[in-house]
Amino acid sequence: MLKERNALVVSVGDRTPFDGLELYGWNLVRADNLDDLPKLVRRHHCTVGLLYCDQCDWGEIAKAWGHVARVSGSVSWIAVINHDDMEDDELRSLIARSFFDFYTLPINPERFHEVLGHAHGMAELRRGMRHEPGTEEIDFKIIGRSKAISKLFALIYKVSETDLPVLINGESGTGKELTTQAIHAHSVRASGPCIEVNCGAIPPSLIQSELFGHEKGAFTGAAKRKIGLIEAAHGGTLFLDEIGDLPLEIQAHLLRFLQEQTIRRLGSTSKIHVDARVVAATHVDLEKAVADGRFREDLYYRINVLPVTVPPLRERKGDVEVLARHFLSTLDSDLVRHVNGFSEAAIRAMNDHRWPGNVRELINRVHRAAILSEGSEISVFDLGLGDDESQGRRIHSLDEARAQAEKRAIRQALAETGYTVSHAAKLLGTSRRTLYRLLEKHQIPSDPSGIDGDSGLLS
Ligand SMILES: Nc1ncnc2c1ncn2[C@@H]1O[C@H](COP(=O)(O)OP(=O)(O)OP(=O)(O)O)[C@@H](O)[C@H]1O
Ligand SMILES: [Mg+2]
Repeated sequence: MLKERNALVVSVGDRTPFDGLELYGWNLVRADNLDDLPKLVRRHHCTVGLLYCDQCDWGEIAKAWGHVARVSGSVSWIAVINHDDMEDDELRSLIARSFFDFYTLPINPERFHEVLGHAHGMAELRRGMRHEPGTEEIDFKIIGRSKAISKLFALIYKVSETDLPVLINGESGTGKELTTQAIHAHSVRASGPCIEVNCGAIPPSLIQSELFGHEKGAFTGAAKRKIGLIEAAHGGTLFLDEIGDLPLEIQAHLLRFLQEQTIRRLGSTSKIHVDARVVAATHVDLEKAVADGRFREDLYYRINVLPVTVPPLRERKGDVEVLARHFLSTLDSDLVRHVNGFSEAAIRAMNDHRWPGNVRELINRVHRAAILSEGSEISVFDLGLGDDESQGRRIHSLDEARAQAEKRAIRQALAETGYTVSHAAKLLGTSRRTLYRLLEKHQIPSDPSGIDGDSGLLS
């Protein structure tokens, strides 16, 4: 038997051309208001959407449509219009920008069926592409094409389609935060906020009011009402980073929020409904924390509904080179004009390295290497992954060896001290004046302005 397809019908106004319409193989799912769209699209796996608007203001529809298009994902939208509607500029521009097709009334079932079939095919194609394993990046942020990362992409798409809590595990620097952002961006909540809470970074005395907010006068110093981070995530995603660091008392409050979807601001007696999808992340073993009594077991089961593991970089065969080239290309070209790639030995060394600090370590090593490098190719040594011999660089004389060692030490001292000459001089056990002289002698710039300062660069 042919599987019935579902088309989502949005009809604005009193009349609708879809009443009593029978289309072989199609089931029309009616949305009574735009808020229901995401739920209906997911529940009925709608691939096609039909919009009819009886004598309405197309300008108003156009304003709301950005949100509708986002929450309805890969649905192919068809505007079903009256003949005269096409004279409306707003409608013409809306269709051109955001619709798959338009259909002018009256409906001829045979022809309409064909249009629906075509729209369905396109939606399936788009959906297939969104799920295609081996895709190199999601929204140009998570880069990689290894098997391990393709599996992660597939998982991200899967969990994005649900509204259940997600627990992301992964070593430090693997991309847990990026993964959360991708889940949010591909979920029906994409147009809502994605609020990040670093549970380990907020002082314990402040954490309850940061998370749950407070009323004016709730405690000394509470001069104004404050909306907490959970409430701020209403309609979107709440990202609880390093959830293992939450004090036990706050864990109890959080559990209540997850169970009841309500919060109570400090100093308030009334409950507030908050609709936020929870994504938590940890780099520690939460099961062990539960066994040690540091993490509530009931909360663990509440948040660990959909576990997602971000693989360590050493398990992503082939990604290291892609990522390294990418991070090199993000550097200010004026600063690293002389560098145009990595030596073969450098690529081998990067592939062999264990990357305990994962992608963050790779970013730092590549950025540092690009600045320190003296040749056109980044070497094993520039990356700090080997010695001169392993990259085949010959040192011809003791003087040259001394000069190279001197240059290297100076560059590293500058990098380690954030390019503060006085600190670098101290680190090297020399005076500022001598260091300035050596900088000039070796033609080393003392100020690498324009370098991306992200994530502890050169740390
Ligand atoms: N696959 C990737 N493609 C591109 N950039 C990445 C990728 N994975 C991580 N990064 C970058 O690496 C850095 C670390 O990533 P992120 O902050 O998401 O890691 P994390 O797992 O949250 O780390 P931590 O445990 O230290 O909080 C960020 O600058 C991020 O943009
Ligand atoms: Mg993080």
